[in-house]
Amino acid sequence: MADRPDESGIVPFLRAGPPPDRTRREGWQQWRKQRDQFTPAPRLSPEEYAALSPRRRGLHDIHRTATHMNIGLLETPMSSKVTKHMRSRLRNNALNFEPGTRDGLMISGGGYLGKTETACAAAAAFEDVWRDLHHQLLPPPVEGTRDLFVPVAYCRTPVRATPKALCATILDFYGAPHPKTLNGLIRAVKDSLRDHRTSALLLDDITRLRLHREDDQDTLDLIRELMDLNVTLVLIGVDIPRSGLVRGGFADPSTGQWIVPPVYAGKSHNPAAATQTERRFDLVDLDPFDYDTIEGTSAFIEHLAGIEDRLRLLRAWPGMLTEGEMPEYLYRRTRGIVGLLKRLIEAGSTDAIESGSEELTPEQLAKIPIRLGNLADRDPSEIPEIPTADPLPEHLSKPTPRRRARNTVFDDRGDRAAGGTRP
Ligand SMILES: Nc1ncnc2c1ncn2[C@@H]1O[C@H](COP(=O)(O)OP(=O)(O)OP(=O)(O)O)[C@@H](O)[C@H]1O
Ligand SMILES: [Mg+2]
Repeated sequence: MADRPDESGIVPFLRAGPPPDRTRREGWQQWRKQRDQFTPAPRLSPEEYAALSPRRRGLHDIHRTATHMNIGLLETPMSSKVTKHMRSRLRNNALNFEPGTRDGLMISGGGYLGKTETACAAAAAFEDVWRDLHHQLLPPPVEGTRDLFVPVAYCRTPVRATPKALCATILDFYGAPHPKTLNGLIRAVKDSLRDHRTSALLLDDITRLRLHREDDQDTLDLIRELMDLNVTLVLIGVDIPRSGLVRGGFADPSTGQWIVPPVYAGKSHNPAAATQTERRFDLVDLDPFDYDTIEGTSAFIEHLAGIEDRLRLLRAWPGMLTEGEMPEYLYRRTRGIVGLLKRLIEAGSTDAIESGSEELTPEQLAKIPIRLGNLADRDPSEIPEIPTADPLPEHLSKPTPRRRARNTVFDDRGDRAAGGTRP
């Protein structure tokens, strides 16, 4: 569904209705299919922009803002590590036709580091391939009926969830009814996963599960039980190893995998059976950018270059985000956390359009706070600390003549000119 300009030359970029709810299977499918389909605003020079009618200029500004809000996922060394792990774990497990426990995956890291988006993108890529393969083997779903094949299920753990609430969240993904008791709920979850031939179950924000109550044991049992269902369990959360979810678990020094011993180890009458039921997880940490090493710094600058390429500010110049003081300044403001950087750039770009400055500078960004939006539905552990005080380096706080940007309007940008269709 490529967005094409209509006869007036305007690219339709707005989407009808609210964004898809990925925690429902229809919403997940809708998101999976349209996830890479946003058409960015065309690149216009200040002269081309000035030549537009006021109405077209207004539309172009909205399209530019939408472009800045939908920068999309950029590959970072940290995200590619997660993607690689997820891809191989999901594929290997899905192609393992023997019954038995599947190794799981834990994606751990602080808030706003991109855990959710990276994991969803990798799961969606897996689903694309897996559906393709299955359509070659199986007839497609009958027109007008619900597709029973649900290779990936994505669920978000509610704040202060109990095992019952977690089961209900999984059932909601499938649109299945909730039985009353925990046993009934667990049985219904198992049935849904099996009936829909689900290979990957993503449990996001899993560290929100209450783990200090009497239902601790139920929770741990539930997680273990889910792993026996021929699905790959992907647990996503803040600092999972210390959360109590893998209580009693330890990292295997030879493989790096986390081994979670059987619940009743030691109490079992049959120690051999007990060892058979230990669960194994790969643990992947998602870290912020690291500015202390040469590789870390160049990865951060490359990420900034990716963002810069997607910005549509009229007075932007090549190197706006990647040269001079800017990279270090952005690092100090965000501590290398992708989500905070994205928020700052979004707010800064909106300010640059509204104020007419049409460029980003450390001086301008210093006036802009990083706002995280509605935090009511978040667990405190998920909210990163945001550096605030005196974000501008001392020598930049004094007015110094800024390097005048070269006028790049007439530069040949090669393929970069393909920003879109000229109105
Ligand atoms: N590789 C990336 N490139 C560009 N933007 C990214 C990248 N990864 C994440 N983001 C953006 O950063 C923001 C935070 O990402 P995300 O919600 O996935 O983080 P999270 O680790 O799941 O945070 P939380 O702990 O709040 O759940 C999102 O707006 C996302 O689009
Ligand atoms: Mg998240």
